[in-house]
Amino acid sequence: MEKSKVLIVGGTGYLGRRLVVACLGQGHETYVLHRPEIGADVDKAQMLLLYKERGAHLIPGSFSDHRSLVDAMKLVDVVICAISGVHIRSHHILLQLKLVDAIKEAGNVKRFFPSEFGTDPAKMEGAMEPGRVTFDDKMMVRRAIQDAKIPYTYVSANCFAGYIVGGLCQPGKIFPSRDHVVLLGDGNQKAIYVDEDDIAMYTIKAMDDPRTLNKTLYLRPPQNILSQREVVQIWEKLIGREIQKSSISKDEFLAAMKGQNYAEQVGMTHYYHVFYEGCLTNFEIGAEGEEASKLYPEINYTTVDQFLKRYL
Ligand SMILES: NC(=O)c1ccc[n+]([C@@H]2O[C@H](COP(=O)([O-])OP(=O)(O)OC[C@H]3O[C@@H](n4cnc5c(N)ncnc54)[C@H](OP(=O)(O)O)[C@@H]3O)[C@@H](O)[C@H]2O)c1
Repeated sequence: MEKSKVLIVGGTGYLGRRLVVACLGQGHETYVLHRPEIGADVDKAQMLLLYKERGAHLIPGSFSDHRSLVDAMKLVDVVICAISGVHIRSHHILLQLKLVDAIKEAGNVKRFFPSEFGTDPAKMEGAMEPGRVTFDDKMMVRRAIQDAKIPYTYVSANCFAGYIVGGLCQPGKIFPSRDHVVLLGDGNQKAIYVDEDDIAMYTIKAMDDPRTLNKTLYLRPPQNILSQREVVQIWEKLIGREIQKSSISKDEFLAAMKGQNYAEQVGMTHYYHVFYEGCLTNFEIGAEGEEASKLYPEINYTTVDQFLKRYL
């Protein structure tokens, strides 16, 4: 089967750069949107040049120029967007409505992967303010895609390992401590952690797969479905000693959230739903979804243990 041509939007981002590498690595003709708005950001420019050296095509295009987006869409079969959606960095999920308009007008795109890659927003109707904005915006984009009858795959990647495992599941921390950890509640709620390079691998695998057409692809690597306590135990084994533990109750966590700024509160809401309510693991995948490690058992995913070894 001929491999799809792919446009990556947000290709210099935290996840986007991994998508570009995975796409090139899996032999797809790869196009990367090059926005004039990056201006004199020399890091992004160097990254784009590196992609070009590796065989990617850089396609000029701006969210302020509809025609440029339509022209970019016309070059490819598949569009993957990894535009920003984490408030402590930047959040532009709704800009994707412009991509939806462009894809609709171009009329040739066989599959669109919007910027999701987290908790399934369809399962978060009852989410708390202010963090629910992430899910509401992602759902608005989904509705626009489906109204426009654009074929899609939504990737529910659960917790990015770099954000969550690195900090032993504590908000605001991305390096594991060797002396003390704060458990969220009793620390026993199961969550799911996925290495960011694996997220990219699974996404690119799913692209030409009819089994993932108009479905949600859930990434649930079986060995990485663990509670915070289990993540900490893995770390303790690696460093060869127990670390001191305290815990923060649900009420204390919610009270502490009130003292944070808006962007931090959004993030803390997400931690709350994952680590106090178990929103990643409290449902079975239904007919609307597929599980990635079952579809692609050949991907040798990174376990939490392997991931944490990087910090030794
Ligand atoms: N599950 C999790 O734990 C988790 C963690 C983090 C992120 N995520 C999700 O992953 C997705 C990608 O997030 P990320 O952290 O990789 O994003 P990011 O690195 O913050 O940003 C990605 C890209 O968004 C583009 N962008 C930023 N501002 C823009 C603007 N004003 N106009 C147009 N484009 C703009 C840039 O693309 P250019 O290359 O064009 O400059 C940037 O490189 C989001 O949906 C996010 O919610 C999930």
